[in-house]
Amino acid sequence: MSIVKLQSLRKPLITLSGAAVIAAAAAVLLMVSATLGTVRAQSAGDLNDLEIAHVAYTADLIDIRYAHLALSKSKNPAVHAFAQTMIRDHSAVNDKALALLKMLNASAQDNFLSRQLNAQADQLVDVMSHLHGEEFDRRYAANELAYHKAVNGLVGGTFIPNIQNPEVKALFEQALVIFKVHEKHAAKMVASLKKVASLGR
Ligand SMILES: [Fe+2]
Repeated sequence: MSIVKLQSLRKPLITLSGAAVIAAAAAVLLMVSATLGTVRAQSAGDLNDLEIAHVAYTADLIDIRYAHLALSKSKNPAVHAFAQTMIRDHSAVNDKALALLKMLNASAQDNFLSRQLNAQADQLVDVMSHLHGEEFDRRYAANELAYHKAVNGLVGGTFIPNIQNPEVKALFEQALVIFKVHEKHAAKMVASLKKVASLGR
């Protein structure tokens, strides 16, 4: 990969003295924030391309994880079909992302948002693993709808406008088309499970 390409993935370099000043200021800010109980080191809009790639890769893995849980717990054929679609599509997007990063000779960078998403997923998997039958199905479906809404909003509203590398941006644009279909599919699944629940009353 060319140096130009790699540099296009990075934010502009700052001078060492500038970095030292920023680090000191950040340390003070963190101390103040920690005292106030509102530590927010970064926002999604501050992430560089390689961090954004890491968040998206993590978000894909999380949806695959939820899908495997659904396959092991649910007996509903519609839930199974949805989960299989999630595994197929999110695996395919992640394979493309890995291939692109390899071509660019770059690696995705772990960051606060990836860690936050994983922590939330750990909690939710724990909660859902204790649910059974239709209760599990409704929770899984509701989460898939909320999760796709949230991730699609982040991808379309923050990530795509901020991505610098055109190939990375193109991959995200392609993926968003697929994930919007998932969101609609999830909305249908939520509606059909509600219908079944109301008929059973
Ligand atoms: Fe999905």
